[in-house]
Amino acid sequence: MAEVKILAIESSCDETAAAVVEDGRRLLSNVISSQIDIHTLYGGVVPEIASRKHTERINRVVRKALSDAGLTLADVDAVAVTYGPGLVGALLVGVSFAKGLAFAAGKPLIGVHHIEGHICANFLQHPGLEPPFPCLIVSGGHTTLARVKDYGTYEILGRSRDDSAGEAFDKVARAIGLGYPGGPKIDALSDEGDSSAIDFPRAKVDGSIYDFSFSGLKSAVLNYLNSCRMSGEEIRTADVAASFQKAVVDVLVEHSMLALEAGGEKRFALAGGVAANRHLRAAFEEACSARGVELFCPSPVLCTDNAAMIGSAAYYEFKNGVRHDLSLNAMPALKLGERL
Ligand code: KG4
Ligand code: ZN
Repeated sequence: MAEVKILAIESSCDETAAAVVEDGRRLLSNVISSQIDIHTLYGGVVPEIASRKHTERINRVVRKALSDAGLTLADVDAVAVTYGPGLVGALLVGVSFAKGLAFAAGKPLIGVHHIEGHICANFLQHPGLEPPFPCLIVSGGHTTLARVKDYGTYEILGRSRDDSAGEAFDKVARAIGLGYPGGPKIDALSDEGDSSAIDFPRAKVDGSIYDFSFSGLKSAVLNYLNSCRMSGEEIRTADVAASFQKAVVDVLVEHSMLALEAGGEKRFALAGGVAANRHLRAAFEEACSARGVELFCPSPVLCTDNAAMIGSAAYYEFKNGVRHDLSLNAMPALKLGERL
């Protein structure tokens, strides 16, 4: 069979992105128009602004994805789009655009789950990787430990009961004056800090060895900052950043290794924006190699939001016969593995 080329669109948060992916594994183009500079002014993503900017940019981004791939719309086999989870207004821009494009060009339409996309970024980076394998997805919206049983089939092992890891990074960064988005800033600042300077808590969650909780850690950081301010003690922000980051990474590694040991797998994958964190990657590398486990992780640009990952996930949906019609709608709270 000839190669399947999919034009994919992603607009669930603050990146307007489009890409063309061949057979779920080969990137023909990957265009990302980030709104970070705008949302930084407000200290976080402003949903109405995100939707408006997607509307302004999506046409150019999609045209560039096609032209970078040296293709026209007639050459692609399907149009894919993220339909959830995410910000409803932001999702609607991509979904409406993709529906219009698919209808006008007479191409199949495939709605894709954003988190499935994050997992599939690994298939772009590692062409030999095939399910089954356990995977930790750490993004701004989600912290989920799952077993990828087959393409499109997942078993949820654990998830955060409150804040996601990315949210904790963003909130702590704001509290120490680093601004939005916090993850990359904490990642960089922590190089100058001592990760054992402050003993922040590593939360255990009642009833599940795989679930996470980060809101207590966030409160512990805020309490630490307040008590320093009240006692006039100097706040070494690099130490706070490094110690906080170590507390997050320790828990993520510990729970992931428990899941690995229970399943007996020799492969483990990381996914999502927080997986771009250099300290997290190094800690997982160390923990996996100590157990003879091969670690898979997308390059940083494929960890954070992009449409290439959506094009990869869509290919496996396409092969499974998934097709959506024009009733496809944005589903802001779509669960991993759920299908319309
Ligand atoms: O996956 P993603 O791009 O968007 C969502 O689906 O949410 O993840 C965004 C999150 C943000 O919270 C951001 O601060 C975090 O990923 N992030 C990082 C790093 N780069 C992005 N967190 C820690 N270290 C990084 N280097
Ligand atoms: Zn994401």
